[in-house]
Amino acid sequence: MFRDVSSDYFMRPIQILIIDLGSQYTLVIGRMLRELGYRSAIFSPRKAESWLKNNRPKAIILSGGSASVYEDGSPRPPKNILKASTPILGICYGMQWLAHVQNGSVVPHQENKEYGKTIAGFDTKEKLFSGIKKQSVVWASHGDSVEKVPKGYKIIARSKDTNTVAAMANPEKRIWGVQFHPEVTHSEEGKEILLNFLGKISGCQKDWKPADIINEIRNKTAGAAKGKKAIIGFSGGVDSTTLSAVLSAVFQKNLLAVSIDTGALRRNELEEIAGNAKSAGVNLKIVKAAGRFQKVIGKNTHSELKRKRFKKLYGRILEEEAKRFKADFIIQGSLATDLIESGSAGKADLIKSHHNVGLNLKIKELHPFRNLFKYEVRELARQLRLPDSISGRQPFPGPGLFIRVIGEPPKKEKLEIVRWADGEVTDILKKYKLYDDISQLIVALDCHRTVGIKGDGRVYAYSVIVRAVKTMDFMTAHGVQFPAHIRKEISSVVTRHPRIVRVFFDETDKPPATTEME
Ligand code: XMP
Repeated sequence: MFRDVSSDYFMRPIQILIIDLGSQYTLVIGRMLRELGYRSAIFSPRKAESWLKNNRPKAIILSGGSASVYEDGSPRPPKNILKASTPILGICYGMQWLAHVQNGSVVPHQENKEYGKTIAGFDTKEKLFSGIKKQSVVWASHGDSVEKVPKGYKIIARSKDTNTVAAMANPEKRIWGVQFHPEVTHSEEGKEILLNFLGKISGCQKDWKPADIINEIRNKTAGAAKGKKAIIGFSGGVDSTTLSAVLSAVFQKNLLAVSIDTGALRRNELEEIAGNAKSAGVNLKIVKAAGRFQKVIGKNTHSELKRKRFKKLYGRILEEEAKRFKADFIIQGSLATDLIESGSAGKADLIKSHHNVGLNLKIKELHPFRNLFKYEVRELARQLRLPDSISGRQPFPGPGLFIRVIGEPPKKEKLEIVRWADGEVTDILKKYKLYDDISQLIVALDCHRTVGIKGDGRVYAYSVIVRAVKTMDFMTAHGVQFPAHIRKEISSVVTRHPRIVRVFFDETDKPPATTEME
């Protein structure tokens, strides 16, 4: 984790405690609750235990997790929560833990393993399910299942496909468990279920508003910023632009936005960066560093190696610029999702090293958006009246086109090819007004060669992969299928390049794929 003065922005009592038991979705629960109008705190079991000594939440949610309750060292929430009569909702592993510690039985159900969308049938007389359909789609992802619920519990939902226990309840003890994930948008009635738990069962009041977040970040930073200077890592994306707009009011001339030209930016990106800095009201410095990045990434083709080397140089350049500006802080727009995916949030497994997480810089770092999701930052941008092109801007990874060249070192000429292809595909999607409909476009160059024909001759050349996803939070995503005539147009335009013979369309969902290919 990074050193940070921004970890405790919100000073009002937290009503909802989420105990992180190691799921990739834990921060999604927090995000979903904010969407529903509620703030929450997310802590590891150990931290939750000490926090609970001085705090009394109105509701406790136990997240899912990738472990099995039988594994040594599997995450264990503090047992005294079972006696506190604070309403508890256990999700997935959280429910299995509830069953296990209260002498129910949990079994590894290899043949009944549920993964993805399944149908569940609900007992809608139960408070947790009041007002929902008797049967609907839920998102499940588990190997183990609860076979026998503990004494005093009843089964209040079952999976239609496998007949496994989909939910259990002990209203007297005020404990509920669901085997599926109500926090992900694929669970049709997930929001209603959470609202029932928070409102009807736990009596929580709505307490999250974007305007409050802006004020709290400004107020809190104002203390740290008094008479101090800062630089902010500025990519021109929605996170760093919005954060600059929030903080330029606090630091004023003492804030410098630093953008690094890594040589792996998209077509016209530098112009867009300059325009966005202007909208955010910050001074901008563009550091030319394409040669330095080429040198450190060198002959690497492995995704994590490229990412790690990129990250190291990125951090070094930020430190150099901070020194030049005599900055006391380096500010970054890292979000909760960046922390999850790079393994810095609780016990989630490492999937990717994000370029701006865990840099361990010599100068104090500030990550004021570390508890927020993209969806919320977009709301802040709208609240600040930044142009739609900023609040709706598609994300682009810090390591840029370096991680969009696959199979060979991302040398300058390959970056040029993928930059060109990305520009052409973007223009086509914009022409058909599809670009703003998708959450992110990913165009990659696959350097494995295949045989093709150009003019009358044989060529042995590269392929381009076109991928678009739709998502709320980038934790899960749908692969988009473009209409046939648009796919045709994209392949015919992109294969005009002499080094490209094929175009592949990647429509895989996340999971199992990730958004980026590397
Ligand atoms: P994945 O591929 O992990 O991507 O599903 C989720 C989102 O994160 C973006 N991404 C990054 N953004 N620095 C960033 O600022 C990074 O190192 C990085 N890696 C992935 C990705 O483009 C997608 O929006």
